[in-house]
Amino acid sequence: MATKIITIDGPAGSGKTTVSKALAKRLDWIYVDTGALYRGVAYEVTRTGTDYNDDNALESLLATLALELVNEAGALRLLSSGRDITDLIRTPEISMLASAVSAKPRVRAALLDMQRSIATKTDAVFEGRDMGTVVFPGADYKFFLSADLATRAMRRHSEGSGQSLCEVEKDIAKRDKNDSEREQAPLKAADDAVLIDSTDLTVEEVVGRILQEIG
Ligand code: DC
Repeated sequence: MATKIITIDGPAGSGKTTVSKALAKRLDWIYVDTGALYRGVAYEVTRTGTDYNDDNALESLLATLALELVNEAGALRLLSSGRDITDLIRTPEISMLASAVSAKPRVRAALLDMQRSIATKTDAVFEGRDMGTVVFPGADYKFFLSADLATRAMRRHSEGSGQSLCEVEKDIAKRDKNDSEREQAPLKAADDAVLIDSTDLTVEEVVGRILQEIG
């Protein structure tokens, strides 16, 4: 039997992760945070001192890259060659670098098969930037979450990265620009995605709307 897929795309701070987690729990499906994979690449670029603008160096890194997402007691952990790097990929530096490396076609190609192969095994909620447009154009249900910039910055700031609210807002605006204007798989809503503006909605309200849509 074919597995079922829900895609949730949107910019940083739009509530994708919180909503995807809550939705997956309600449905008893797994959730897949694809941003974590791009963060994993950024982490390995930093750890190995790779110049990601050098095609050969990037190719060598990707050839040995072994990222794995594992569900542990309902939480998602990211392993790189068996090492748990979950707690090392949420810094402001890694966020910005993830956005930069994700514009590289070779990086996107390397992660594409991994994402699709997870979807062959189990029903899943996939969240990211290009889930509904590129990775799973035939997904059963597609959603695109948005929220105004100030609200998104406030949400991220409350997670406590050590940055001021102003810095968080500036970083998010820069990432939005990078992610939406890149040539490969830019951040955008699929034509057949349901758009939800979460600015004035609670997580429960967003999840409620999604459950209503999928019946
Ligand atoms: O969702 P996030 O903020 O953890 O993602 C980090 C970066 O990874 C984001 O700025 C762009 C990139 N990304 C992407 O290009 N495609 C995805 N499907 C998910 C994330």
